[in-house]
Amino acid sequence: MIFAANFKMHHTRASTAEYLDRLESILEAAEYPFKVMVFPPATALQPSRDWITVGAQNAYPAESGAYTGEIGLSQLAEFGIDTVLVGHSERRNILGESQEFIAEKFGYFADKGLQIIYCVGEPLEVRESGFEAVAEYLWEQFDGIDLDYERLIVAYEPVWAIGTGRAASVEEIAATHAELRRRIRRPLLYGGSVKPSNIAQIGAIADVDGVLVGSASLDPESFHAMMIAVAPPQV
Ligand code: PGA
Repeated sequence: MIFAANFKMHHTRASTAEYLDRLESILEAAEYPFKVMVFPPATALQPSRDWITVGAQNAYPAESGAYTGEIGLSQLAEFGIDTVLVGHSERRNILGESQEFIAEKFGYFADKGLQIIYCVGEPLEVRESGFEAVAEYLWEQFDGIDLDYERLIVAYEPVWAIGTGRAASVEEIAATHAELRRRIRRPLLYGGSVKPSNIAQIGAIADVDGVLVGSASLDPESFHAMMIAVAPPQV
């Protein structure tokens, strides 16, 4: 199972380093059967640790160049970063990234061989229109995306469940992941208000291969509590 922590615009360079130190010592002691990833802000990028892959929340699809405010492949390479989130709903909705631009990013980083967590998710009004509308909306978010890319991981994150404290129900997640599974052979993560109290239920859903966690990942003890809920330490 994959546990991915998306810090968004939380944590500094110093607090990220402390966080990774703490998480590394937890993982070293526990030997969990998990793949653990942490996505800090760009200013806090640093090399991956033992048992922890450090990835970027975003990058521009170029090696370097005249793209004010962005970071590209050369800035990622300095820290050996080879994992990137693409298509997160906050970048789609707040930063206005189009499907065309997201597909360009995907194509660029796939061509460079990076591991990509590709995010999709419907807004509330689409969810309220019924499952067919949800499926149609999600598949449109795969326009221009190579579903067979071998380093692809997909994260299903309903917009209405992100940061709201209200995760999708087990039935909603199961049905949506089953739909995605029809065409996607790569790992499927669920994201949106995953926390220690619901991770066991969510992690047990057949087509859930992991979780992408925002708020509840910001404290390493809370992130760890989710791991314990899925795989209690053997005593
Ligand atoms: P959340 O965020 O866990 O705070 O809902 C998830 C995400 O946006 O990746």
